[in-house]
Amino acid sequence: MKFVVAIDGPAAAGKGTIAKAVANHFGFSHLDSGLLYRAVAAKTLKGADPVAASEALHEDDLKADNLRSPEVAQMASKVAALEDVRLALIDFQHSFVQQDGGAVIDGRDIGTVICPDAAVKLYITASPEARAKRRFQELLNGNKSVTLEAVFKDVKERDERDVTRHASPLKAASDAITINTTELTIEAAVKAAIKVIETAFERTKQL
Ligand code: DC
Repeated sequence: MKFVVAIDGPAAAGKGTIAKAVANHFGFSHLDSGLLYRAVAAKTLKGADPVAASEALHEDDLKADNLRSPEVAQMASKVAALEDVRLALIDFQHSFVQQDGGAVIDGRDIGTVICPDAAVKLYITASPEARAKRRFQELLNGNKSVTLEAVFKDVKERDERDVTRHASPLKAASDAITINTTELTIEAAVKAAIKVIETAFERTKQL
């Protein structure tokens, strides 16, 4: 039986870092589903039609080097609101979780739409202020010249679009366990996530 860990949450709450760390800890494969939307966005910014780009998406497109830029992030949140783009990206995500062994997949709609039967569903969140500060620091570390105000505005805009869109909006699944990382170190947040996964793992072994 596949053991799938679905991790959702808003931008810069720490879900990517947690997803990578728990995948590493348990030896599971990991997919950052945001990269799919970012890859479609990068092509859209170059003039492609977003639906056609999502239908033609190839694994190698996820390795493009500009995918973490703020422009791509904003466009990703826009193309992610298009129902046909979301539909075109479902198969890729389903094939990923069907591989042998455990899988961790993080995004916005993993526990609600993509993997509603996941063994573990985590919802990672944090205050908009804490998230903006973290993203600001990341961008500074990457030598990007930005202001905290601009990053805060960007985070709020993306939240608004991701939560209010009609197609698969960001929300916690009713059976998700929420980890609020506002006051947590990354180590503490990863530890909390590992504990939840271990408990679920033990439970499935007993089934
Ligand atoms: O997690 P991220 O910041 O890389 O995601 C970029 C955008 O993609 C985000 O604003 C919303 C969208 N997204 C989505 O709609 N569904 C997902 N499963 C993952 C990301």
